[in-house]
Amino acid sequence: MADAGLVLACAGCCCGHPDKGGARIAKPLWRRVFAAAGLEGRARLAFSECLGPCSEANVVFLYLRGRPLWLRRIDSAELFAAALAYARAAVTDPGAALPPALAERSFSWTGGGIGPEPV
Ligand code: FES
Repeated sequence: MADAGLVLACAGCCCGHPDKGGARIAKPLWRRVFAAAGLEGRARLAFSECLGPCSEANVVFLYLRGRPLWLRRIDSAELFAAALAYARAAVTDPGAALPPALAERSFSWTGGGIGPEPV
C-alpha cells in the first residue's frame, strides 16, 4: 500500500537558518522525531529546498490523503512531533481535529491549507 501522507520539512534558504529568521533545524533530530511518530508505512518524510513562503519559516507542509496543510514556525522538536501526531491521526481519520497549537500556525499558500495568507 502506498503511503497516505507526505511530510515536507523545508530546509531551504530561510527555514532552519537563524540568520534568516527561522530557528535552527537539525535534520537528524527531525528524522528521529519522525521515526518515533509511528508513521512508518503511512507517511513519508522529506526535506525540501525552499517551498516559497519564506516569511513563515520554519515551514512544514503536510499532504495527507490528498489534502494539503501548511504550517508555519515549526521551531521545535515538540511542535514537529505535534504535527506528526496530527498526521498520524489524519491519515486514519481525515476529519481529525487540528490541535490549537497547530491551528494557530496553519496558513494558506498555493491554493491549499487553512488560515491567513503569509504576510
Ligand atoms: S526556505 Fe522555507 S519557505 Fe523558503
